[in-house]
Amino acid sequence: MTVLVTGATGRHGGTGAHLVRRLREEGRDVRVLARTRGERTESLEALGAEVVIGDLQDRRGIVPALRGVTQAYFTYPIDAGVIGAAANFAAAVRESGVSPRTVVMSMGPAHPGHPSDRGRDQWLAEEVLQWAGLDLLVLRVAAAFHENVPALHGRSVRDEGVIRNCFGDGPVAWISGRDAAELAVAALLHPGRFDGPVCHPPGVEELSHHDIAAVLAERLGRPVRFEPVSAEQWHRELVALSEVDDVVNADMAGHITSVADRVARHGSTTAADPVALERLIGRAPLTFRDFARTLGTQCPLSAATTWS
Ligand SMILES: NC(=O)c1ccc[n+]([C@@H]2O[C@H](COP(=O)([O-])OP(=O)(O)OC[C@H]3O[C@@H](n4cnc5c(N)ncnc54)[C@H](OP(=O)(O)O)[C@@H]3O)[C@@H](O)[C@H]2O)c1
Repeated sequence: MTVLVTGATGRHGGTGAHLVRRLREEGRDVRVLARTRGERTESLEALGAEVVIGDLQDRRGIVPALRGVTQAYFTYPIDAGVIGAAANFAAAVRESGVSPRTVVMSMGPAHPGHPSDRGRDQWLAEEVLQWAGLDLLVLRVAAAFHENVPALHGRSVRDEGVIRNCFGDGPVAWISGRDAAELAVAALLHPGRFDGPVCHPPGVEELSHHDIAAVLAERLGRPVRFEPVSAEQWHRELVALSEVDDVVNADMAGHITSVADRVARHGSTTAADPVALERLIGRAPLTFRDFARTLGTQCPLSAATTWS
């Protein structure tokens, strides 16, 4: 009864690490597939997880990681390569002769008609997993992670007291990375709560970036404002950020500006629903205000990667 967890060394939403911790608390045997060893794999081993080295872009390392696996968590960063990763994972499952129930961390923009390349790729990756006959539960989380705020805006908040993006003045649906991971915990341990194989769990609340700036200002004890800018300007800023940052990448810049531009024009596609989210995860979801309490008060903002 081993659960294979991919993406547990993440620095963005960090869903995999939280999932490992929760599964260990539930007494499950956990095997982590990681690309390299380091502090992050050491802390996963300290939780009692087995770490195997492999790459989702190379089927040869995935096959041995699947030995004896009955359940799996598949996640991939917002970056190019998810289709190849899914194809390699699916081929490895078929080759190894196991048939793990696989929970896929996905996003609302996973749709064949979405303007974001990454959204369309995520959808196609999930098609590949389905064509391969995997036993799937896909979580197309229909909300932005709280962790996007420090990742995308931490430096400008520090340097200029400003959040700049092209989401416009309207509300955005939000969820914490912890609760996205809790959705995966529930999908593995309580699949009956989901009407899968593809479901669209909602966010906890809807807040504009003016609201987000106000919460940060209160937390940091200094002014923070929101300034709407064009998609082109925000894209340029994120590409520049990707050159000096280890979380943001150029593909993510394209994805997030497409998503934000669409939200600014049409609004969020799925309304936040804290009651439905709580029913799915079996605990009270975190609000952005809760998340902000976990951020250091000293800039640059840094997101907690482990949750209590
Ligand atoms: N951000 C949002 O607002 C949002 C909202 C809804 C849904 N989502 C979904 O959340 C998912 C991302 O989850 P997350 O934030 O927990 O991820 P994350 O923190 O970005 O972590 C990504 C993980 O994938 C690993 N990885 C990257 N390339 C790999 C490869 N070739 N082989 C094996 N592992 C590889 C990374 O390992 P290294 O440490 O080696 O790099 C890291 O552990 C995406 O599918 C996205 O659609 C995000």
